[in-house]
Amino acid sequence: MILVTGGAGFIGANFVLDWLAHGDEPVLNLDLLTYAGNLENLASIENHPGHRFVRLDICERDTVLGLLREHRPRAIVHFAAESHVDRSIHGPAAFIRTNIEGSFSLLEAAREHWGALPEAEKAAFRFLHVSTDEVYGSLGPADPAFAETTPYQPNSPYSASKAASDHLVRAWHHTYGLPTLTTNCSNNYGPLQFPEKLIPLMIGNALAGKPLPVYGDGLNVRDWLYVGDHCAAIRRVLQAGRPGETYNIGGNQEMTNIAVVRELCRLLDELRPDPAGPRSRLITHVRDRPGHDRRYAIDARKIAGELGWQPAETFASGLRRTVAWYLDNPGWVERITSGRYTEWISRNYGAR
Ligand code: NAD
Ligand code: TYD
Repeated sequence: MILVTGGAGFIGANFVLDWLAHGDEPVLNLDLLTYAGNLENLASIENHPGHRFVRLDICERDTVLGLLREHRPRAIVHFAAESHVDRSIHGPAAFIRTNIEGSFSLLEAAREHWGALPEAEKAAFRFLHVSTDEVYGSLGPADPAFAETTPYQPNSPYSASKAASDHLVRAWHHTYGLPTLTTNCSNNYGPLQFPEKLIPLMIGNALAGKPLPVYGDGLNVRDWLYVGDHCAAIRRVLQAGRPGETYNIGGNQEMTNIAVVRELCRLLDELRPDPAGPRSRLITHVRDRPGHDRRYAIDARKIAGELGWQPAETFASGLRRTVAWYLDNPGWVERITSGRYTEWISRNYGAR
């Protein structure tokens, strides 16, 4: 079996669902269920014999170690994190705790468990750390895309905390020999993404006839990858990645934010016309995010060349699937956008 952390969040839940759809190896899913974790994401596998969910903070090292000893997973796939840049600006402490201390705690539990395994199991064991392209910092318009050799220059509390965890993973391999793998992926989008992130937030606001808050001039560039392609890349790295290596994962789909929002408006106008007029009328430029990285781009030639992974979706096909999913699942959005979500929206957007 494999152990997944953060498997009730956006990418983790997509990964667990994909994993069980692609084979019969069981998953032990550890998640604290913060505001971003949602058991409804896993409702379709509630009674699946291959899925066991445990509500747990990854900082609880002894309990994690007990679970590792009890279940003897052959791999840990570590998604659990605080993941939203804007939240890290308002309150960095949770990012330091989960992303740095939590990853440290998980590495230590893994090291203790792994060190006591028989040689064959020890050699086959993997610790796959899921990270982000944001650790590399910000690119100018003509700079080459981030490669695995690009120096780390994190700029936000979020990316600094992820960079710190990447360094810990690297050191646990280098010093202790723990068979680690690290993936650095660009911006994901797709079903089950919490509507604090650009794409689901804009879909929700557009459907409600609310302003579409574009930070600054809207010309910041991100590379976008459909979440199912990210899950496939992680499965492939787990299967054939070389221990101690890092792999950049991207979609080769660089877009400015304003272009993403305009495309969303166009798709929504097509699929769910608004009698009041085109959704692009709702676009509103608001005060920029402090320290806003200008451009991210991923050079994914290593994973393509070594492991043969390529994204299956284009931005156009993936965005259409995503919009269709949000249109088909208004209840999912409604249930998570009550209460604390409203507080976050007024905190982040109230003074912009
Ligand atoms: P998310 O915020 O949707 O989900 C995070 C999950 O981790 C939630 O289920 C939450 O309950 C859980 N969690 C948080 N703190 C925990 C703790 N202390 N113990 C146990 N569980 C805890 O995040 P996501 O977008 O699914 O991102 C998953 C991972 O992928 C993160 O490590 C993130 O840095 C990385 N990543 C995300 C993106 C992206 O575009 N979303 C891109 C590249 C990499
Ligand atoms: P986000 O989804 O928060 O991902 P990240 O900051 O990790 O790349 O934001 C993607 C881009 O969209 C980023 O440049 C910030 C911008 N953005 C807005 O313009 N308005 C918004 O309301 C949000 C949430 C993001």
